[in-house]
Amino acid sequence: MERTLIILKPDAVQRGLVGEITSRLERKGLKLIGLKMMRLDSALLKAHYIHLIDKPFYKGIEEFMKSSPVVVMAWEGFECVNSVRLIVGATNPRIADAGTIRGDLAIGQGRNLIHASDSKENGETEVARFFEDKEIFAYDKSEYLHVYEPYERA
Ligand code: TYD
Repeated sequence: MERTLIILKPDAVQRGLVGEITSRLERKGLKLIGLKMMRLDSALLKAHYIHLIDKPFYKGIEEFMKSSPVVVMAWEGFECVNSVRLIVGATNPRIADAGTIRGDLAIGQGRNLIHASDSKENGETEVARFFEDKEIFAYDKSEYLHVYEPYERA
């Protein structure tokens, strides 16, 4: 099963959209394996956004991501990294498809509510970056019988 890291950014917390967004991921049939609220610091953000560190807007991202606590979640599911990116929508909410989290709930590019891992490898790396092993939970989800075909939940 793949893992993906979700960050509900300060705008999601401030706008009271934590439940709405989490609910969309739950309803997909994904399995929540880790959840906590935290304040992000510069070192963690630099590691997380290393691909953007030289961009002129990086400083603004860092300031914003530190502006209030965030909610971080680890989710598991069959090929879930791509599924979650489709639910999240394009980086720029103004061109994100209607029906996606960003397309439905956001307007500003730098205020797009949510981070989701963009590859299987980054899913593993990012979950490990934000969660200690003891914060990740292994358990049987009875819903899997109805969410997946047998080969998908193997
Ligand atoms: P990125 O990793 O490219 O997108 P995504 O979050 O969809 O994986 O960018 C990380 C965040 O940086 C993005 O969610 C919002 C912010 N950002 C800007 O503010 N301006 C920009 O031009 C880009 C590309 C990103």
